[in-house]
Amino acid sequence: MNDNHNIEKQLADLRDELNQHNYKYYVLDEPTIPDADYDRLFQQLKQLEIQHPQLITSDSPTQRVGAKPHGGFEEVMHTYPMLSLDNAFSEEDLQAFSKRINDRLKTAEQLTFCCEPKMDGLAVSLIYEKGKLVRGATRGDGVTGEDITSNLRTINAIPLTLIGDDYPDILEVRGEVYMPLAGFNAFNEQARNQGEKVFVNPRNAAAGSLRQLDPKLTAARPLAIYCYGVADSKQLPDMDSHYHILQKVKSWGLPVNPLIELKKGIQGCVEYYAKLMEARDSLAYEIDGVVYKVDNLALQEQLGYVSRAPRFAIAHKFPAQEKTTILEDVEFQVGRTGALTPVARLKPVFVGGVTVSNATLHNMDEIARKDIRIHDHVIVRRAGDVIPEVASVILDKRPLNVIAIIAPAQCPVCGSDVIKPEGEAALKCMGGLYCSAQRKEALKHFASRKGMNIDGLGDRLIEMMVNLDLLHTPADIYKLTLDKVAGIDRMGLKSAQNLIDAIDKSRKTTCAKFIYALGIREVGEVTAKNLARHYHELSNLHKATLDELQKISDVGPIVAANIYSFFQQEHNNEVISALLAEGIHWPTTKNTNSTNTFAGKTFVLTGTLSQMTRDEAKDALENLGAKVSGSVSKKTDYLVAGESAGSKLTKAQALGVAVLDESQLLVLLGAES
Ligand code: IVH
Repeated sequence: MNDNHNIEKQLADLRDELNQHNYKYYVLDEPTIPDADYDRLFQQLKQLEIQHPQLITSDSPTQRVGAKPHGGFEEVMHTYPMLSLDNAFSEEDLQAFSKRINDRLKTAEQLTFCCEPKMDGLAVSLIYEKGKLVRGATRGDGVTGEDITSNLRTINAIPLTLIGDDYPDILEVRGEVYMPLAGFNAFNEQARNQGEKVFVNPRNAAAGSLRQLDPKLTAARPLAIYCYGVADSKQLPDMDSHYHILQKVKSWGLPVNPLIELKKGIQGCVEYYAKLMEARDSLAYEIDGVVYKVDNLALQEQLGYVSRAPRFAIAHKFPAQEKTTILEDVEFQVGRTGALTPVARLKPVFVGGVTVSNATLHNMDEIARKDIRIHDHVIVRRAGDVIPEVASVILDKRPLNVIAIIAPAQCPVCGSDVIKPEGEAALKCMGGLYCSAQRKEALKHFASRKGMNIDGLGDRLIEMMVNLDLLHTPADIYKLTLDKVAGIDRMGLKSAQNLIDAIDKSRKTTCAKFIYALGIREVGEVTAKNLARHYHELSNLHKATLDELQKISDVGPIVAANIYSFFQQEHNNEVISALLAEGIHWPTTKNTNSTNTFAGKTFVLTGTLSQMTRDEAKDALENLGAKVSGSVSKKTDYLVAGESAGSKLTKAQALGVAVLDESQLLVLLGAES
């Protein structure tokens, strides 16, 4: 009995700890433990539950994906209807909204509005009874929706149990389930490579994911939620402000968008609109506008509703990110690795705040799947700062003169044969560095900031130099002289000298940057660093076998094969030798004590450093064998705290982790360099 009691407590503690981490991650956006530690706790809980199945509770973090696939969703009647919002597209619409409100309230006062991002996802209702999630539903027609509880339970950001003890017995929360852009792009990329269905936009992706009949499939989709209200504020009788309700909801463990703000009057709303419009492209998710809500709940009630929308709120829409235009032509662009990308030449169209006349068509499989032809009416989509794409075609409007898009048999730049490698979606030009397009891209990559970091050798200059036949291989960069450079692109003597100096300076680099600069397929900055740290010398990397390579963190079978075959190509080795002969060098790091001083030690950097950036400090520490992590845990050996260090410092102090200031860090690094 006692034993059982003990186990129960252990289980409750583990569940509590996992829920706390979830809360910090999803609601406070302050992850406190590395994913691996979270996974370890999760496994511990799972094991214990396997041993004591009678003690499994339905709200245990292990029980998110419990339900079996089913035949369809049940209809549910909403206790409170799920309304929609009136739209404003201009400042006049907004003034009219303000006037309507003030007239109704018979006041000239400037009201306070709760201003919120309008998430572009799917509205859901979540019902908690005594703090437990008992039902989740879609909006449906606003009166009846579908019961999607088992799918919503798989979203880690949705708590199965509320935190605290001041929530009402019955609480119905409303919010928007969405798919963050990074998850959406990764999902589509994978689907595209595997020839599977891709989603047109994150909203459709979120909707499609929530409508899966097997919750396991929903669980595999990167979904998240922001809550924007409760169904009936009378469930919280002590509250008089919508904004404060949201803060309360957040305190119970439900994610609320941190960009929500109170603003005074329509002027304040307009400022908010401008601010979010500016931020739009850098947000991790899509928004299609902002929402203004009269904050005072008594005034909300006084204003009431008109048909299906509240009078106290309005959605101020952003310019659309999808527009219709005409596909005038298709050209094929050659990338660094020789991949041919079909690019749509469009009748220029204003989308999401910019004029778009080119958009990617991704690859031939996508063109076939979407059935796109030249002269078609197509929907162009521009989201965030990613390249615009042709999302779909409007078949109803297809003209008679459409022309099929045909894959070229020869490279449009160099005339070499084009092949479609097995298992890959992209066509490939076989010209290699003979192809000037590939050469240009390879040289741009080589000179880029993360590569050899040659200041002043930008894309445009490289293109001109290739066209002038000045550059063939990267080693040619180091053969450039003042008289060859001056005059190109109207470059004066001084700029030419600066460029020559920058090229000279780049001769001293790091092994990692050099590996990155070589442009081995799928070897990015992180992999290059791992390779440099592991092999220390290029000659060791050159000799590495496929098996050995796969032991390095971040290197899977595909990347290993790319690295291996890169060094099998004689011309690549010639390029490397030529570069080394031009005097490119880096400090040799040997696997000895002197350079591995911090092997096995974990550092966390926080706050602002004055002598270097955090990235530079990270590089320097990693070069000495340290692991640099993003969050403080018991495993952290040192926290480096710069100016205005915040919660990480507090946490480190609480855990008894050694704290270094910047000068101490410099001593550590200086002593070793
Ligand atoms: S409030 C009574 N707030 O927009 C008003 N809705 O066009 C209920 N939406 O169905 C909605 N972000 O799916 C509200 N911050 C936000 C929102 C938001 C997105 C969606 C929601 C709603 C639709 C109405």
